[in-house]
Amino acid sequence: MAATTRPRILTGDTPTGTLHLGHWVGSVKRRVELQTTHECYFLIANMHAYTTRTRTAPDIRRDSLEIVRDYLAMGIDPVQAAIVLQSEVPAIAELTFLFAMLLPFNRVMRNPTLSEEIKIKGLGDQYSFGFPLYAVGQTADILAFRAVGVPVGEDQVPHLEMTREVARRFNQVFCGVSEHAEDGDHEKLGGVFPVPHADVGKVGRLVGIDGLNKMSKSLGNAIFIADSPKEVQKKIGKIFTGRQSPTEPGDTNNALFQYVDAFIHDASRVAELKDRYARGDNIGDGHIKVEIAEAVNALLEPMRERRKQYEGNDGAIVAIIKEGTARANTLAEETLRMAKDAASLGYFTRRIDFV
Ligand code: TRP
Repeated sequence: MAATTRPRILTGDTPTGTLHLGHWVGSVKRRVELQTTHECYFLIANMHAYTTRTRTAPDIRRDSLEIVRDYLAMGIDPVQAAIVLQSEVPAIAELTFLFAMLLPFNRVMRNPTLSEEIKIKGLGDQYSFGFPLYAVGQTADILAFRAVGVPVGEDQVPHLEMTREVARRFNQVFCGVSEHAEDGDHEKLGGVFPVPHADVGKVGRLVGIDGLNKMSKSLGNAIFIADSPKEVQKKIGKIFTGRQSPTEPGDTNNALFQYVDAFIHDASRVAELKDRYARGDNIGDGHIKVEIAEAVNALLEPMRERRKQYEGNDGAIVAIIKEGTARANTLAEETLRMAKDAASLGYFTRRIDFV
């Protein structure tokens, strides 16, 4: 399929550190599939990291490169999908300013994802102006690419709702699209922006090796892509179920079996393990752990190999980002031009030139 005939999607990550198996299960695996059927833009939302980490800017830079290393290791192909650095797409910043004019301040502050983050991160009333602005910025991330679909987790749905509101309002205010127009008709009716939808995939949550919480770097319960085979074995060995003996009937929804379901692909083997475990048919947790570790290591092995090619080589990563960002700018500048023309801001044209 030619890239231009594929439906266009965009998604992104705020760079926070290296990726782990939870990211693979929750989002990256899906992206690796989507890159073959969709025109994909994967955004490194590095400006969003500045909302709370301005004092450690060098770490944000390091994390931005690390996340690309992990993307590549996990099989994202920078030829198929554009890997884009948010801070080098000026159209995003410009659209953020313009879209901010279309959103009532109180509407932004009612965004539940923002309120939740203020609570979780303990920001109180001390957050920067840039903090709520990031939510407006996220609408620009998506609309700059005129993406039709946005693969995200449940927690991002409020941002998508706001994005849809911005698209509708822009098209109504500046492009004469009727307030009664169906979302799917906006572009046909002369609107600059399609009204994008959130594409919330199934599953997407892997429990950590503590068997309790979602896998997360900060909780110390994560298996990283770059972990050695030994480390993987050791970590999986720690998954706690509370089961006492190989003959005790076990719960096949426990943490261990979430891993079985996520990583063992032989369906008949999975069914057999579940059957024996549920009956307590002389099958120990330790045995299951060995099989899980084998499956996880089989998944990680090619990822470790690919990652090695880029370790200690920031130049190669920067070159990949630059190429993807250049492609992104071609599209985003076109969108910006259309938006400026619609908003009576079209005075003259310009070209962005990476050197
Ligand atoms: N806010 C998202 C997160 O924390 C990252 C993100 C930034 C994003 N821009 C985006 C996701 C655009 C989807 C679309 O995970």
